Amino acid sequence: MNYYIADLHFGHEEVIRMDGRPFGSREEMDRCMISRWNESVRPDDDVYIVGDFCIGAPRHAMEYLGRLNGRKHLVVGHHDRNIAEDPQVRAEFVSVGQIMEIRDADETVVLCHYPLVQWNQYFRGAWHIHGHVHNRRNGGYDYFLQNEERALNAGCMVNHYRPVPLAQLRKNNREFREDRAYLWERYGKRRGPVELENGTWILPETNLFTGEKTMEKGDAHFILSEYCGKGLVYHFHCCGIKTRGYTFEEVLRTAFDFGEDFRIEEEDLREYSAQELDFLEGLKERLRKERAGA
Ligand SMILES: [Fe+2]
Repeated sequence: MNYYIADLHFGHEEVIRMDGRPFGSREEMDRCMISRWNESVRPDDDVYIVGDFCIGAPRHAMEYLGRLNGRKHLVVGHHDRNIAEDPQVRAEFVSVGQIMEIRDADETVVLCHYPLVQWNQYFRGAWHIHGHVHNRRNGGYDYFLQNEERALNAGCMVNHYRPVPLAQLRKNNREFREDRAYLWERYGKRRGPVELENGTWILPETNLFTGEKTMEKGDAHFILSEYCGKGLVYHFHCCGIKTRGYTFEEVLRTAFDFGEDFRIEEEDLREYSAQELDFLEGLKERLRKERAGA
């Protein structure tokens, strides 16, 4: 099986503070990452290290590599140049490259330490796995994160400090993208209504829709029908960035309080699954009873 990880920064004391890693010391971090690696990876697994393996002299890299299971491949990051150029360390890897293109089961995967804007087979569903950004969301990375669902950050701090297979990497990235504490930090503290790309207005977090400005007939219909295919989770556009703020039920509860009756236009009905329609009807019934009893 293939595993992926990036930006381990073995031996790097300063990265604990930089990333907010949950370790008291470099020794504790190294120990934890080595034991998690070996819990997951068997000797005949392939591990793609997508850059920034360790800090220090090549002999340090040799020591770490000797304690880690699996067949290792190095996608060179900016901290790996000295180890990539050292013949002895280089020989520890099955392959070393700046960019790698591999197959993982039926998927094409393009690996590069630095996030690429587009990669080979981009329009044919290929995945891109990168590192470098750690868990920072500054600059254009936030936009990239929210809009490029096939670009996956293999950074260890996003992946519970262990190498992960592609499916787990996708899951961890989804959780990182949709982290509610971050979204609240980023968007929830805004004051006043925010205009969405579709012309709808929202008030973040507490009053999702303002009575006068936002609950124009059709607003909720538009949003619900736009995203109903993605499961019972409400997505919205905020300042041009697609992000998740609320569960489907939370949106409906708020909308209900503003007089929304969840009527779905005839032409949009086919967009909804039977499960979603049942959910809507059931919730509407529950809310009616709750509000009547209140
Ligand atoms: Fe790094």
